[in-house]
Amino acid sequence: MIQGRSLASKHLGEEGCGGDDAHYCSRAHCTASFTMVSKSAPPRRRGYHERHAIFCSSQSRFRIPGGRRVAPPMKRFVVLISGRGSNMASLLDASASGRLPAFPAAVISSKPEAEGLSTARNAGVETRVVVPARFPSRAAFDEALAGTVDAFSPELVILAGFMRILGNDFVRRFAGRLVNIHPSLLPAFPGLNTHRRALAEGVRFHGCTVHFVTPDLDHGPIIAQAVVPVFDDDDEASLSARVLEKEHLVLPQAVAWFVEDRLTVVEGRVRLDAPR
Ligand code: GRF
Repeated sequence: MIQGRSLASKHLGEEGCGGDDAHYCSRAHCTASFTMVSKSAPPRRRGYHERHAIFCSSQSRFRIPGGRRVAPPMKRFVVLISGRGSNMASLLDASASGRLPAFPAAVISSKPEAEGLSTARNAGVETRVVVPARFPSRAAFDEALAGTVDAFSPELVILAGFMRILGNDFVRRFAGRLVNIHPSLLPAFPGLNTHRRALAEGVRFHGCTVHFVTPDLDHGPIIAQAVVPVFDDDDEASLSARVLEKEHLVLPQAVAWFVEDRLTVVEGRVRLDAPR
């Protein structure tokens, strides 16, 4: 009995899965692969792809009237990061657990030392690094980044702590499928040092915003926001930790709405449609 093979067989045997004797699922949405592990091998923690395959194979809600199961239309997303990557990790977790019905095609960092890169690699997600200093101009960097993103054919590109301002050409290329998470209640405090500025202004409420990206920095149509109180004894660290906790909830939720085709932008405002 081969542990990895039995899991693969279960997944590969499903309706919509093109593989037969291979160890790869050839569904368009799914790049799950399987490791052959003999029964005598020591127990191991399931990798991202394996958990994803189990999730795929457990989706019984995608049925057509004859009762046959069809492959879920899993959309792909790419996350752009520059550092810690905790928001990116919240997306990978939500995807692996099935709360977010979308596949993390890749994580791309503008910094080779970004902590989030190892988090993504450990989860079995493809990573790339595109460093601005290696390009002669901002436009050349944007072009290289766009090409790297496009190579993964994502339906959605997510800026999650990506510390570069992207040019208009990049934004236009991904218009309507480029979202950002910003640590303030936009339109208040666009730009940097949001928590410090919120404390300096004495606001009683602060929070985070997920929005579509437009050429105007931190000003695109708002998809979701979460609010936190500001306490008298808060400092930058305590306030940012309180906001970050909300970011990890609101970003996967906003992305789930996007991949479920529930978001429509009408005159600069985002309408959330009912689940289909
Ligand atoms: C988050 O606060 C996000 O809102 C902002 O940058 C920070 C990134 O944190 N854009 P992490 O890298 O996701 O941990």
